[in-house]
Amino acid sequence: MKRIAVLTSGGDAPGMNAAIRAVVRTGLYKGWKVFGVHHGYAGLISGDMEQLEARDVSGIIQQGGTVLGSARCLEFETEDGRWKALRELNQHGIEALVVIGGNGSQSGAYALSQMDFPVVGVASTIDNDLYGSEITIGVDTALNIALEAIDRLKVTASSHQRAFLIEVMGRKCGYLALMSAIAGGAEAVVIPEVETDPEALATELRDSYKRGKSHALIVVAEGATYNAEALLRYFQEHRERLGFDLRATTLGHVQRGGAPGAFDRLLATRLGAGATEHLAQGEYGILMGLNKGEITPTPLAEAVANKKPLDMRLLELAHVLAK
Ligand code: F6P
Repeated sequence: MKRIAVLTSGGDAPGMNAAIRAVVRTGLYKGWKVFGVHHGYAGLISGDMEQLEARDVSGIIQQGGTVLGSARCLEFETEDGRWKALRELNQHGIEALVVIGGNGSQSGAYALSQMDFPVVGVASTIDNDLYGSEITIGVDTALNIALEAIDRLKVTASSHQRAFLIEVMGRKCGYLALMSAIAGGAEAVVIPEVETDPEALATELRDSYKRGKSHALIVVAEGATYNAEALLRYFQEHRERLGFDLRATTLGHVQRGGAPGAFDRLLATRLGAGATEHLAQGEYGILMGLNKGEITPTPLAEAVANKKPLDMRLLELAHVLAK
């Protein structure tokens, strides 16, 4: 192996830069040439890549986002797009690729590896919905950002005896909502995995006040059928009967833009280094993840074919702890 490339794809996640840095520096340490592809698969298709040296990744470990840029590339989802990308890789003499990203990005990595190109994935998404890694790059930082907001909202909610909706990211997965609800001591949580009845939610809130609470916080995942907007509308339409004046805060991309904390920097560094280590041993078609404290490979075929389930015992715990 002499020339490898690295790209970041899909939603950026705090820690992606630490992973890029680890791939570049461990690759250089092995005597390889390392290329950075700009804007994910879109840059791969257009051949937008540059050779990176050790100093090119200086001072990025503490930065959120991705210095390589990212994209959601529809063209790469077509066979034609993937052939274009493969041609560019061959033209640049690239022998292997490291793909740092979440579900969609790893499906792309798998598709490329099915075309006999050596690819290793690095598990990175704030959603934590990627099979093959118990926790992915960016989750811890995104959770801490959500918690900071929840803690602040609780202060003002308590002062006014108010009920607040806080919408966090997670189009298909309620992990961020559930974990930030538990860690933030929320009264209720609404996630895509479970149907929520707004009437039952209103009862839950009323009960919280009856138990002597001075506020009610509901953490909502953006992908829930009743997201913050829908819940707010429902509670406004039935205000007289439900007796609640809800306020809503949508955190959105604020959660993605933070500087990575210690956990994400270390996780990303270990995963990036693990990726080059496996490439050096001639192992590819795999996703690097963290499992039981170890950096482990999972076949990309397995990673993309499976869904990581949400641990429903944690939902039960959230209910118990809200009492
Ligand atoms: O997949 C990560 C994520 O942040 C999801 O939580 C969110 O639904 C989505 O990306 C938002 O995507 P975009 O940045 O393309 O709007």
